[in-house]
Amino acid sequence: MKGAIQIFDRFHEIVNERVRSSLDERFCYASDASQIEGLPDFVIRPKSTEEVSRILMICNEFEIPVTARGAGTGLAGGATPVKGGVVLDMSSMNNIIEFDIENLQVIVEPGVVPEKLNRTLKSSGFFFPPDPGSSAICTIGGMISNNSSGIHCIKYGTTRNYVLDLQVVLADGRVINTGSKVLKSSVGYDLTRLFVGSEGTLGIITRAGLKIMPLPIAKRLVVASFDSAVIAGKVVIQIFSAGIIPSACEILDNTTIAVLKRCDPNLVFPNLGDIILFEVDGTDNSTAEQSYRIIEICAPLAQSIREVSSKTEMGAIWEARRLVGAAISRLDPTKTRVYAGEDVGVPIKQIPILIKKIQEISEEFDIPAMKYGHIGDGSLHVALFIDIMDPDQWERLKRAQEKIHRTAIELGGTVSSEHGVGLARAIYMRDQLGNDFLEIMQSIKRTFDPKGILNPGKLSL
Ligand code: LAC
Ligand code: ZN
Repeated sequence: MKGAIQIFDRFHEIVNERVRSSLDERFCYASDASQIEGLPDFVIRPKSTEEVSRILMICNEFEIPVTARGAGTGLAGGATPVKGGVVLDMSSMNNIIEFDIENLQVIVEPGVVPEKLNRTLKSSGFFFPPDPGSSAICTIGGMISNNSSGIHCIKYGTTRNYVLDLQVVLADGRVINTGSKVLKSSVGYDLTRLFVGSEGTLGIITRAGLKIMPLPIAKRLVVASFDSAVIAGKVVIQIFSAGIIPSACEILDNTTIAVLKRCDPNLVFPNLGDIILFEVDGTDNSTAEQSYRIIEICAPLAQSIREVSSKTEMGAIWEARRLVGAAISRLDPTKTRVYAGEDVGVPIKQIPILIKKIQEISEEFDIPAMKYGHIGDGSLHVALFIDIMDPDQWERLKRAQEKIHRTAIELGGTVSSEHGVGLARAIYMRDQLGNDFLEIMQSIKRTFDPKGILNPGKLSL
């Protein structure tokens, strides 16, 4: 980079030794959890909004790309600096600034880890519901930037539903607040919603006001297995149509169950069929009633149904569910899971068709596809796994993922339910959203970031 030493010195004046430019440190920030790579020129670990603002003023002046990063757990290359420049590692801004329980909210810095926030909130009887699989390590900033969600959003909604206010540093260093402590307001454009899911392309989030919810008193878990995932999908629709909204509704297909049993042989899951986990929460009475109704609706179609009564077993099942992504290599050590086509979503009514089509695609391209995830949201994690040393398998995988994404769009769905677009899914933006939508997105981008320095190359921008 031209004048790199002078630029380094300018950053050094602001953050001292918290700017790095050695190859080994830059390399650590060259990718997230996807296979997408891009080497930054500088890594900076800011500690305050003021530092971020001063850094952005320099980047804007010299047109240096800036990519914000939390814990790097993203699966779409969203935090990968594909055009080089600065990676802002926001994980050091990890203070919980205020617990304002009376106002039903907390104010946090972007590097706060959601599980830690929830551990701290527990004693007050509250929680922050969005709960991605990576909640033990990911950051609130990353969750907001991708509108992530996880297993509880069927009842509680996604991150978007909990953001009341954001402090954001704009590309030129100005600092704005998009909301306030009020729980609702009708004044002005809803910039808070615009920033949620914008993947660092419009500004850098340095603080967030988040709504919190009271913890439920009771939870119950029903595990039902079915002959096929398609039947399982139909049962989910029947349950919703009966007016029951579980707090979690997850599918684990037969291959997923085999993987989990290899990790924890004590897990009690049926050997055959595909499983749905129905969790309900509320009071003792309401959960008993909901669980009874779910069992009643499942009974005519299920192979087996079991209510899990022990809290320990319930905890073990959810812990196993969180491990699925990582555990998959246990199934076949010669194969690696490639994150491609892994986050499609459709309107819930279309779920049985989506499942069927994915099975067909898996057979057509001869690529094993494990299916699991948030079936209650119409969302499915498709895990494709191949021998990554075999070019022919890569080629077939690419064609399979292309078809999976196109199928989701044709069914009125989305190429990403919760993992985000990043670079991995940028090519599908136009097909999913249309030309006019994309043009409006591009003009919004120009308004916020006229020089195009913020996370360039992402979201098709
Ligand atoms: C999960 C992540 C992959 O649900 O979204 O496990
Ligand atoms: Zn998920």
